[in-house]
Amino acid sequence: MESEKIIVRKFNFDELLLKPIGDVHYGTPYCDVELFEKDIECIKSTDNMITIFMGDEMDLSNKLCKNDSVYENISPQRQLEYMVDKLKEVAPKSLGQLDSNHDAWVDKPSGIKIAKIRSNLVGVPFLAWQQTFKIYVNDICYNIVASHGYGGSTSTTSKLERGLKFIRGYDNIDLGLIGHVHDNNHAKEMIKRIEDNTVEYRLRYVVETGSYLKYKGSYAEAHGYSPSLIGTPIIRLSGKEKKIIVE
Ligand SMILES: [Fe+2]
Repeated sequence: MESEKIIVRKFNFDELLLKPIGDVHYGTPYCDVELFEKDIECIKSTDNMITIFMGDEMDLSNKLCKNDSVYENISPQRQLEYMVDKLKEVAPKSLGQLDSNHDAWVDKPSGIKIAKIRSNLVGVPFLAWQQTFKIYVNDICYNIVASHGYGGSTSTTSKLERGLKFIRGYDNIDLGLIGHVHDNNHAKEMIKRIEDNTVEYRLRYVVETGSYLKYKGSYAEAHGYSPSLIGTPIIRLSGKEKKIIVE
């Protein structure tokens, strides 16, 4: 039977803060660079905060993309140089770099895996499309899965439903992280699990990891999508008892 390798990381804090960074879309005029840089600074200066790079950090629009104009963007080379510099600042605190659909805009026509190159330059593990982790906060273990995400959901409920479908593929996941949808919501659900001679009730969360794209003038506005809160969430993982709080 096929199996996947889990990444195990251990931290000693009363509480670990996980702040994913993704969907920055650096390079478009709609990227909130100031907010992104503020969040990088926050991760760097907060002892008990870690991150994961969720994908679409660079916008990478090119002439083969049907939706975006390349003429008002920062060049892809400059996007790479800037993003590597910024992500390096928090590399020791990052769980790794996921692959993503905007990275695939470079991969497909060129055969060059830009997300893998970026992760090598930054110095973090390349996680491809999906990665499962065991994160210990003291001796409390959290099973976490992260994916950049996929598909074209537009409503709040369909985006969250897609996220829930993603984590339902796991029997005992505690937290699923999903990017791509450019939204900042989360959902939780209870499941029943047979453990020895008892039925245990277990809570699991799915968290959308937000974006740094301003709405006015953007692709989202042009296509009639609703605006959403920009920035990324903070997920609090307790090191005293099994407890997750999403802000
Ligand atoms: Fe995105």
